[in-house]
Amino acid sequence: MSIVITGNPGVGKHTITQQIADRMKLSIIDINKIAKDSGLFEKNDDTNDIDVEKLEKILEQKISENNVIVGHLAPYVLRKNQVKTMIVLRKSPYDLIPVYKDRRYSDKKIIDNTGSEILGIIANDAITKFQEKTFQINVSGKTVVEMLEKIMSIIVNKEGNEEVDWLDLVTKNNDLGKFFVN
Ligand SMILES: Nc1ncnc2c1ncn2[C@@H]1O[C@H](COP(=O)(O)OP(=O)(O)OP(=O)(O)O)[C@@H](O)[C@H]1O
Ligand SMILES: [Mg+2]
Repeated sequence: MSIVITGNPGVGKHTITQQIADRMKLSIIDINKIAKDSGLFEKNDDTNDIDVEKLEKILEQKISENNVIVGHLAPYVLRKNQVKTMIVLRKSPYDLIPVYKDRRYSDKKIIDNTGSEILGIIANDAITKFQEKTFQINVSGKTVVEMLEKIMSIIVNKEGNEEVDWLDLVTKNNDLGKFFVN
C-alpha cells in the first residue's frame, strides 16, 4: 500500500513528495504525469475534466508496493485498499494567491482554486472515501523541513491530524466577498 500526498494546486505536493521519496527510498507515482502521458488531459490543461475511470485503471497497472503517489486527483482515482496513508496538504488561501500569481494563473483560475481550498473540497472528499487513512496538515508558514517532520510523524505514528478551517478565518477577516465573487 502506498503513501499518498494530495491537496489543491500550489500547496507544495511535489516539493514534499520528492523529500519523502528520498527519505523513505520510495519511487514516485505522479498522477498528473501519468494522465498527461496517457493523453487524458486536453491541451495540457490539468484542470480539465478527465476520464476518472480510465485513469483509475491505468494507475492500477502502475502502482506497486512501495510508492509515494502524488496528485490533486488522488482521492478520485485511487481505491482505499491501495492506500496506506493519505495526507492532504492545506495551505491558507492568502498564501496560495502569490503562488498562483507567480504561475500567472488567470483571475478566474485563482478564484476557483482558492475557493476550493477554503471549502476544503479535496480534504472532504478524501475523508469520505479513505476515512481513518486520511490526515490533514496545515503547511502555511512551514518550511519544507518542518513539513517533512510532520508527515513522517503521521506515516510512522498514525497521529498528527490537524483540523483546518479556512472558511472560519476568511469569514472572521471579512473577506468572503474577496474570495467568492459573483
Ligand atoms: N514549505 C514551503 N515553503 C515555501 N515555498 C514552498 C514550500 N513548499 C513548496 N513551496 C513552493 O511553492 C510552490 C508550489 O509548490 P509545488 O509545485 O510543490 O506545489 P504542488 O502542490 O505540487 O502544485 P501542483 O498541484 O500545481 O503540481 C513552488 O514554487 C514551491 O517551490
Ligand atoms: Mg506540483
